[in-house]
Amino acid sequence: MLDIESIKCIRTQIMHWRLAGESIAFVPTMGNLHAGHLQLVKAAKAEAERVVVSIFVNPTQFDEQDDFANYPRTEDTDLEKLQSEGVDIVYMPKREEMYPTQMLTKVSVSQVTEKHCGAARPGHFDGVATVVCKLFNIVQPDSAFFGEKDFQQLMVIRTMVADLNFPIDIIAVPTLRETDGLAMSSRNTHLNGMQRQQARQLYQALCLAKQAVLEQQASFAEIEQAYLRRLTEQGFKPDYFSICRRSDLQAATELDEQLIILAAARLGKTRLIDNIQLDLN
Ligand code: PAJ
Repeated sequence: MLDIESIKCIRTQIMHWRLAGESIAFVPTMGNLHAGHLQLVKAAKAEAERVVVSIFVNPTQFDEQDDFANYPRTEDTDLEKLQSEGVDIVYMPKREEMYPTQMLTKVSVSQVTEKHCGAARPGHFDGVATVVCKLFNIVQPDSAFFGEKDFQQLMVIRTMVADLNFPIDIIAVPTLRETDGLAMSSRNTHLNGMQRQQARQLYQALCLAKQAVLEQQASFAEIEQAYLRRLTEQGFKPDYFSICRRSDLQAATELDEQLIILAAARLGKTRLIDNIQLDLN
């Protein structure tokens, strides 16, 4: 596995593979790798001859400086994990390599970023879209892999790729969960023992709300309110719990068939996000 920091080196290596006719799959990450990230790597391995994984804790997508400073960084174990998955390049640019000068350009995707995490975390998706755009230009992969856990992020990337004509297939990978249902996340390491016990209730709420929608127990708005209340009673500080149309993440109506329920809630200082998909008819 090649461990590369500079844009020039990664471009040279990728050019060699391209000339040899090899396809390249890319998995962008912020490190602190867990089995959820490794699912993406495995899917990438199955898709292409060469796999590139990036690790970069991108400062511009953090709306809270504390969150950026405390984001778990575990470089050595990350490298071991990627090595044993058979990754070809791990790309770990320094901040100065990604942002050598003040950025005067940004990629800003509208509409799909207006609600949910976009509303709760101002500027977050501009940071994500811009860094992923930069990484795509550096790596120039044939395909790139993103987790459904961050469903709104996946939509932002798909929209950017379609609007700006990136010749890259965006492949979605289902959410990997702990045995009690909690979606795996780097931020789970911040939960204390009691919070870790409580955390499973977020996915439980999503499963119950899905059932309530399927059984038409109440209107969408009533179901959303009921689960916001329930999460609050359980000790969460919910940001949102929204029944959405899957195609554009706008509020679902009773006529929509492909739905997704998106939720974000804080337990202490830790912000958890998750979602569940459902099809009516
Ligand atoms: P990060 O949070 O490290 O996540 C990297 C990728 O792993 C994302 O596509 C995310 O959706 C996926 N992922 C995380 N947990 C997962 C799980 N439990 N199951 C399946 N996939 C999971 O998302 C980012 O980094 C950044 O915003 C990034 C795209 C790298 C841009 O900086």
